[in-house]
Amino acid sequence: MSKNDWNPDLYLKFDNERIQPSIDLVARIDYNNPTKIIDIGCGPGNSTQILYNRWHESEIIGADNSPAMIKKATDDYPNQKWILFDAGVDNINDKFDLVFSNATIQWIPNHDKLLQRFADLLNDSGVLAVQLPLFFDMPLGKAISEIGRQSNWIAATQGVDNLFTINTAAYYYDHLAKYFSKIDIWTTDYHHVMESQSSILEMIRSTGLKPYLERLADDNKKQQFESLVLDKIKQDYPLQNNGKVLFSFKRLFFVAKK
Ligand SMILES: C[S@@+](CC[C@H](N)C(=O)[O-])C[C@H]1O[C@@H](n2cnc3c(N)ncnc32)[C@H](O)[C@@H]1O
Repeated sequence: MSKNDWNPDLYLKFDNERIQPSIDLVARIDYNNPTKIIDIGCGPGNSTQILYNRWHESEIIGADNSPAMIKKATDDYPNQKWILFDAGVDNINDKFDLVFSNATIQWIPNHDKLLQRFADLLNDSGVLAVQLPLFFDMPLGKAISEIGRQSNWIAATQGVDNLFTINTAAYYYDHLAKYFSKIDIWTTDYHHVMESQSSILEMIRSTGLKPYLERLADDNKKQQFESLVLDKIKQDYPLQNNGKVLFSFKRLFFVAKK
């Protein structure tokens, strides 16, 4: 695994929390027998298994630009099809009935262009189904961004907030309406029950916190940054009576049919 690649094992530690949006998104897709499906940003293949559970007769490709994630998916599900693919730039010479993407497009810039690319990948009656986290709407996302802008961190973390592309429902509606005739958009606020406040830090370390930590010079600096984030988590996500913590996590979904 290269230094800044994803860590599939750390990512899968919180698989229960991460997989529920895929289950909810798949349940909202009104398509009985898609012949070909692509899971864009398939990660370690977890979201892809939700697609397999519903459409086991379909041809399903898992596509991701992380070598570590594609290796993990291939190791865990050797009979399924996995490709290294950058959704922002790579082309694929094929058409699909369903383009699915869970918790991925926030890592890809220029969603106007991206939605057009997704629409181009679809057959005439194809469906696009996407979920993305509303990271900066959450106290945790705001706290990480604020800490990154403090004077002793800004030199290292400048511009990291801009690595995330997250638009409003109104933005997605207007851009989807150029290519799709039926559009559903909704948000869900999950309340994950976490063992402790540190569990929130551990969950976010492999995703939203990852690009900030990558900019810091050494383990000592990373630990200092994380300890500031944990202090904010303790303020924003209080302990419940039984010592557990509710981690409220807001996500935006859309399903669009051509
Ligand atoms: C948070 S994980 C989501 C994994 C899985 N879909 C799930 O539901 O848990 C985001 C994934 O998006 C992938 N990704 C980020 N940018 C990408 C791009 N430009 N093209 C393809 N995959 C990308 C990452 O490598 C990572 O595996």
